[in-house]
This record gives sequence, structure tokens and C-alpha cells, in this order.
Amino acid sequence: MKKILIQLDTDPQPSVFDRVVAVDAGVDEIFSYGGVNPENVTELVHGAMFTRSPHDLKYTAIFVGGSDVKAGEALLHKVQSLYFGPIRVSALLDSNGSNTTAAAAVRTAARHLELGGSRAVVLGGTGPVGHRVAEILASRDVEVTVTSRTLERARETCEIIHEKHPKARLIPAVPHGGDFSGLMDGCQILVAAGAASVQFLKEEQWDSIPSLRVAIDLNAVPPTGLEGIGVTDKAKERGHVACYGAIGVGGTKMKVHRAAVEALFEQNDHILNTAEVFAIAERIG
Ligand SMILES: NC(=O)c1ccc[n+]([C@@H]2O[C@H](COP(=O)([O-])OP(=O)(O)OC[C@H]3O[C@@H](n4cnc5c(N)ncnc54)[C@H](OP(=O)(O)O)[C@@H]3O)[C@@H](O)[C@H]2O)c1
Repeated sequence: MKKILIQLDTDPQPSVFDRVVAVDAGVDEIFSYGGVNPENVTELVHGAMFTRSPHDLKYTAIFVGGSDVKAGEALLHKVQSLYFGPIRVSALLDSNGSNTTAAAAVRTAARHLELGGSRAVVLGGTGPVGHRVAEILASRDVEVTVTSRTLERARETCEIIHEKHPKARLIPAVPHGGDFSGLMDGCQILVAAGAASVQFLKEEQWDSIPSLRVAIDLNAVPPTGLEGIGVTDKAKERGHVACYGAIGVGGTKMKVHRAAVEALFEQNDHILNTAEVFAIAERIG
């Protein structure tokens, strides 16, 4: 039975990147749709649900993508609402690469220290990627400081994570006048997840933190989020700190993305969102 991936993209043009990854993950046929939203998705999902026998539904799956992560979340929610009983197909949400990038970043950090009981700071932690990095870390018993330019946004992100993970230890924070120093006391993991070209810290502000073990900068567009980290840095040692740039994490991100697409076809009732994608990242090592 051929593996069919139905690409539901919230942007007008379905992502070529996501199609290429699907081919590399062993998908036989990709049906790509752009401009998909909760109002026009029903027929597309019914087409996936009602064509193959229940036993063969695991060979059809849905990929929700596009640049707008909130729109992707709303679309996945609608897709799930159309399922009933065993009549369903697996679905993966990876709008803007948010789940696979966050999972890859945390998996990368975990190569350098035991996550449980450690402290992390996620700079720009309110965006789709930073939010998910913070969520995954918090779910692994890491105390996480989430920074934003406004306390309200930092608090909102922490509250959303806390609802999913009641034991999460989260600290919303705003650097006063660009001074991050107090926020990073005792921090072992530093992740810069700000918007493209946003630089948070000068070199001397982060590379002298005595407790720091791993620094990851997900911004690939110069200037980088952490001055001194190159986009291609991959486990580059700076004293006691292992440093990664956006492309340095990219290899792991691609592996996670391919593995998540492959996992869709294991059964017909997988819903792969942040936690599930991270579990896949842990499985592939
Ligand atoms: N390596 C990869 O494969 C990969 C994949 C996807 C994304 N990325 C990169 O990962 C990073 C995060 O992605 P994203 O989609 O989550 O980013 P985003 O939503 O564009 O921005 C993240 C956060 O940055 C903060 N921010 C925006 N402008 C700022 C400014 N001028 N000064 C300080 N903070 C600012 C905002 O927080 P507040 O408004 O709360 O301050 C925002 O929530 C981006 O650099 C993106 O390019 C990499």
C-alpha cells in the first residue's frame, strides 16, 4: 500500500521544504494544499478518512505546516474534531518548523548534561520555537526562565506551559535596560530563540557565566542572538561551554523532522505535537 501524505499548509503556497523532507522520509505520494484553514479543510480530511479501509488508514497521514504557528494549531484542532472512532489518520504539526526545531535544540542540550534538576534561560521564549523549547525543558524537570520584552507576554507563555505541565518550574522575566546578568545566575543551558537578526547578548555577557554548559543560538540571520556564536558552530568548545548555531542544530532538526514523518505511518492514530516530537527526538538519539 502506498504511503500518502496530505500536506495542509496554511500559507497560499505549500512549502517545498516540507515536501522534500517528506520524500526523504519515504513518502510515496504527497498531495499538497495551500491556503488551508478550519473553514475549508473538512472535505480534504474526509477524503483522507473515507477512502481506505480502517486497516489501511495507517498508510495515509496529514502534515500541518505553514509559517503561522497559531493558524497551524487551529487547523490541527479542526482536523482532530473531524475524526470519530477508528476512522482517523495520523497527523503531525510542524508549522514553521517549530516542533522539530525546539525538539532538536533540547535534544542537543541533553548531549552535554543531565536535563533534570538543571537551570535554563530561553531568550525570546515567547515565540513559537522558544515557547516549545521552554515547554520541553520544563517537562523534563528543568527550571526555565522565559524572557520577553514584556512581562505580560513572558507570564502568558509560562501560564500556558504550566496548564499542560502543572509541576513545571518557570520564571517569566524581562531584562531591565538590556541587563540579563541576574537572570542567568546558575544557568547551565542558554537558548536564544529570538526573531531573525535579534541579538540579545554581547560575548562578554554570556561566555563568563561560570555555570553555563551549553549555549544554543537558533537565529541564523546575522547578527546572531548570542554574539560570538557562528551559525555553523556545532559543539564548538568555548572554555567549558559547548556552542551551537542555527545550522549546527539543523542536522538534528532534519533527522527529527524525517523521523516524525516516518512515525506517522506506524499507526493511524498518532497526533504528533510538541511532546510527541520530542519523544521521537529522544528515541533517535
Ligand atoms: N534552525 C532552524 O531550523 C530554525 C527553524 C525555525 C526557526 N528558526 C529560528 O528560530 C528563531 C525563533 O523562531 P520563532 O518563529 O519562534 O521567532 P519569532 O516568533 O519571530 O520571534 C521570537 C521572539 O523574539 C522576540 N523579539 C522579536 N523582535 C524582537 C526584538 N526586536 N528585540 C528583542 N526580542 C524580539 C519576540 O518576543 P517578545 O515580543 O515577547 O519580546 C518573539 O516572540 C528565529 O530566529 C527563527 O529564524 C530556526
